[in-house]
Amino acid sequence: MEIKGKNALVTGGAIRIGKAISSELAKHGVNIALHYHSSIDSAIALKPELESEGIRVELFQQDLSETEALPAFFSHIIETFGQIDILINNAGIYPRDRLKNLKIDTLEALFGINLYAPLVLMREFAKQIPEDGHGKIINIIDAKIFKHDPETFMYRLSKVALLEATKLAAMELAPNITVNAISPGLMMSLAGYEHLDMQAVAERRVPLKILGSGEIVAQNLIHILKQDFMTGNNIILDGGEFI
Ligand SMILES: NC(=O)c1ccc[n+]([C@@H]2O[C@H](COP(=O)([O-])OP(=O)(O)OC[C@H]3O[C@@H](n4cnc5c(N)ncnc54)[C@H](OP(=O)(O)O)[C@@H]3O)[C@@H](O)[C@H]2O)c1
Repeated sequence: MEIKGKNALVTGGAIRIGKAISSELAKHGVNIALHYHSSIDSAIALKPELESEGIRVELFQQDLSETEALPAFFSHIIETFGQIDILINNAGIYPRDRLKNLKIDTLEALFGINLYAPLVLMREFAKQIPEDGHGKIINIIDAKIFKHDPETFMYRLSKVALLEATKLAAMELAPNITVNAISPGLMMSLAGYEHLDMQAVAERRVPLKILGSGEIVAQNLIHILKQDFMTGNNIILDGGEFI
């Protein structure tokens, strides 16, 4: 698909990996419906930066755990922005809960944001693509799911389910919508872990001995968007960590 001039919705598009995705899409001439939840200052600061690439940018605030509100959220975007051609499900939360800490509230929040919201957005996205039109969906998963470490038990479950949903949706939404995934590995430190020497962690854990970045995710995302014979696929960007 020629992506220049198309409209993309990027969830969690204001910070970190989402910001890198928004910036790379802007450089390729893609208009951006930029979703944020709490990062209003980052979203407002990023808007003119993206617009300087000559594209249209609108900001849309939504708590994706408010599951009932999601269809109206998507309708509001297409009413104000027009048809969305590209959906990037990037937003997610990363609680460190093991099975022994299982609670329905945390599971609901996690599955609401990491799984149910991307599913609803995929459904609503598919509805507005005309029968003779084309759309592209990319879901951001996590390369961690390829190792069975219970430290982030519930998070991994949510991302495994999203990867499976990527494949199922690729079948259901073909032939006019492609659905693919990207699974990032070790990228950047989490909030509260900024003191960690991430390069040292990469040298211990990653065969290629370097860290990934939002920019690497974004470059691969552009590659996928340009492919018309690729669906149900998952690009793993982990420097070999989970081979
Ligand atoms: N960073 C990594 O090393 C890494 C590795 C593997 C996979 N991933 C995946 O990559 C994606 C982005 O991760 P990241 O580390 O760049 O971001 P992050 O720091 O984990 O931030 C999460 C993003 O999700 C949004 N978000 C969180 N709770 C939300 C809610 N209730 N409603 C709506 N949006 C919400 C945030 O929006 P606001 O900031 O506006 O609140 C933010 O943009 C995630 O899906 C993550 O699982 C990241």
